[in-house]
Formats: sequence, structure tokens, C-alpha cells
Amino acid sequence: MTRDAMAGRDDDTAGRRESAARGDIAGRAHLDEVLRRFCTAAFADPLIGPCSDATDLDVHLPRIGDFWERALFRTAGHRRDAFAPHAALHLAAPLTAEHFGRWVQLWHATVDGLHQGPNAERAKAQGERTALAMLRRLNGRDVDTTGEGPGFVPLAALTRRAAAA
Ligand code: HEM
Repeated sequence: MTRDAMAGRDDDTAGRRESAARGDIAGRAHLDEVLRRFCTAAFADPLIGPCSDATDLDVHLPRIGDFWERALFRTAGHRRDAFAPHAALHLAAPLTAEHFGRWVQLWHATVDGLHQGPNAERAKAQGERTALAMLRRLNGRDVDTTGEGPGFVPLAALTRRAAAA
């Protein structure tokens, strides 16, 4: 699938219908739509898009679909090492707190744009947890995740700020 074709499909009728309903993520078809949109946004992003230049979407989308289906519904077998491709990317060009912060931002925006409900919340929370774990594994545990500087702003930091305001 070309990226242009994927971007075109982003506006299809099914997508608009789901978006209007904004029910919870209920299964694989919903996840596939979320992931197509997420990849469209991520590839177009000036910060993290260049990291994914070599990605073949026909291979990538089923893999991340399996990952998220297993994470949310336990119904698919993603037994691959999800960390390994990121370690390889990091070796080629460091993945920083800014990269992971942008990833989380796009992930949350994509999920919120299509769905709301407990599974949508779990997807967002798990995405953020995984991003934080990958960031620390790649850059060390003392990497700044307070949300004070540029880069990764965990939801917990935003919640703390809101409570303090
Ligand atoms: C800086 C942020 C990130 C970038 C730039 C990035 C980019 C990539 C790239 C280029 C691949 C390999 C695609 C290929 O097969 O060619 C990949 C795989 C994958 N990524 Fe990320 N990623 C990021 C963060 C995350 C996070 C936070 C998650 C959390 C769920 C995640 C989940 C996955 C999964 C499940 C795969 C597939 C692993 C496999 O089955 O091989 N990524 N990512």
C-alpha cells in the first residue's frame, strides 16, 4: 500500500461513520482503522516521520494490529520483540524524549478522534506506558520525564499540573 493511498483511505466513509459515533474500540476492525490513521499522522510528522522512512506498511500494519489486539483483547498472538526495531532505529539515529513525546501526542489524538470508552483509555494508557519504558530502556532511567523541560510529558505530569493550578 502506498502512503498516498493510505492517506486517501483516511477520508473514507467508514472512517467518517466511526468518527461520528465515537464508541469504544470494540475489535480488530476498529484497531486497524486507528492504526492506519495513526501511521498516516506519524509518517507525515516532521519529527518522527523520517524515522519510519524504510517502513513497509503492508508488513507493519498487521504486526502492530496483532500487538494492539493482544494488548487490549488478548485475541491475537503478537509474540515478536516489539522493542528490537526501536533499538535498531536508536542506533541509527537516537530516539529522544521529544520523539516519544510526539509519538504519545499523536497516539492520543488519533484514539480520541475516533473512539471513547474504557478500551480507548486503556489503549492510550498502555501506549504511554510503553513509550516511557522504551525511552528509559534506550536512554537510561535518569532521562527527564517530569514534563518540566521539552520532550516527554507524561499524563501524570499534566494531571499534577492541573491539580496545582
Ligand atoms: C519515537 C517513537 C517511535 C518510532 C519513531 C517508531 C517507529 C517504528 C518503526 C520504524 C518500526 C518498524 C517498522 C518496520 O517493520 O519496518 C516500529 C515497529 C513497532 N512499533 Fe514503533 N515507534 C515508536 C514508538 C513506539 C511505541 C511507543 C510503541 C508502543 C506500543 C510502538 C509499537 C511498535 C510495534 C508493536 C512495532 C512492531 C514490532 C514488530 O512486530 O516487529 N512504537 N516502530
